Amino acid sequence: MKRPSRYKALYGGRGSGKSHFFAEAMVANASQSKGFRAVCVREVQKSLKESAKRLCEDTVYAMGVKGFEVLNDSIRTPGGGVIIFAGMQDHTADSIKSLEGFHVAWVEEAQTLSARSLEMLRPTIRAPGSEIWCSWNPRSADDPVDKFFRGLEPPENAIIRKINYDQNLMFPEELELERQHDEKSNRARYSHVWEGAYEPQAVGSIWDRLTLHSTRRDVAPTLARIVVAIDPAGSSLPGADEHGIVVVGRGEEDSHGYVLDDSSLHGTPKQWADRAIACYDRFEADCIVGEKNYGGEMVEQTIKSIRPEIPFIPVTATRGKHIRAEPIAALWSLGRVHMVGTFPKLEDQLCGFTSSGYEGSGSPDRADACIWGLTQLFPAMVQTKTRTVHIPNLGAGGWMN
Ligand SMILES: Nc1ncnc2c1ncn2[C@@H]1O[C@H](COP(=O)(O)OP(=O)(O)OP(=O)(O)O)[C@@H](O)[C@H]1O
Ligand SMILES: [Mg+2]
Repeated sequence: MKRPSRYKALYGGRGSGKSHFFAEAMVANASQSKGFRAVCVREVQKSLKESAKRLCEDTVYAMGVKGFEVLNDSIRTPGGGVIIFAGMQDHTADSIKSLEGFHVAWVEEAQTLSARSLEMLRPTIRAPGSEIWCSWNPRSADDPVDKFFRGLEPPENAIIRKINYDQNLMFPEELELERQHDEKSNRARYSHVWEGAYEPQAVGSIWDRLTLHSTRRDVAPTLARIVVAIDPAGSSLPGADEHGIVVVGRGEEDSHGYVLDDSSLHGTPKQWADRAIACYDRFEADCIVGEKNYGGEMVEQTIKSIRPEIPFIPVTATRGKHIRAEPIAALWSLGRVHMVGTFPKLEDQLCGFTSSGYEGSGSPDRADACIWGLTQLFPAMVQTKTRTVHIPNLGAGGWMN
């Protein structure tokens, strides 16, 4: 990994030392070659806090190298060089040209890098001997970085390594405890999180990760209607399922669905009702939607005992969960519903729905709330007409004889 190479790719699970490795390599290069210029990029960087700046700073101090100066938004390196931090989404085809003289571009969390960003970055980093480094925890074989390095034709002149926590000599005790906990209680995601396997996907699932990722938005447009949907668990005892509380909206212009928040929680009826009402206020929602079946009038009464004037729409499940889910998943695959941001637990639950039922662990309360909310926003799409099916009376001499 230390010898020069056009591409260096390090992928694997949590705590394997990927980020530390590249941060150290970057600081070492900057300290050895005067005027070294590097950029740490991510697909989205809303603030410097999200960048690798802090890690690079700590690495400069830990390595005790001289001639570095930490500024607000960058790090000056010996001999007039610099390390800067950038989000690809803030760049256009023109503005990215400012990176042409850079010697290294390090893409952190590269699983979120879009195809456009990868295409833009590759020809931009063009100084003699320049290198592109990528570190990521694999999500899907369809992610651009995965296709590029692990697909059928990986680039020549690339060093590509898989690495996991068990190869990190500095793996800290705190993370070891986290790992052991996940190994026992989160089997479904363990291989992905800690062993660098792709995100789990149920066989025959009706949502797929790629659709969720490719339709994701950073911000919602102006919304015509916003609802808070709630799917309370049957019990508030410790260890019981969560109460799903999800906020969704419908775009004023495009009529698309937007998932705005997942505020699900464990707790008492008072706690979930307070949380739902707080969401109603924060998003200036039009109403709260809740299932009537098992709780009877309980959901409505609990909400109204706190705030009587809140518009509440009771919904009744006449069909199985996964059947209610199908039309909503179909809207998603048409690109008409979007996650605004990332909601890992909700997304896991959605991806656990298959055409024959829910195959994830526990009860999919977040997904249920999300589906109720979107069903409320797209009533025409999911309505079922009552049909009378006439079964001919075959009588004697029918097919059974
Ligand atoms: N060179 C190092 N010096 C000190 N600690 C290190 C070093 N390398 C790794 N570690 C320890 O290992 C932990 C995991 O390393 P790092 O954050 O680089 O892993 P990662 O593969 O980027 O994980 P993630 O996927 O969680 O981002 C660090 O929090 C740190 O405690
Ligand atoms: Mg990391």
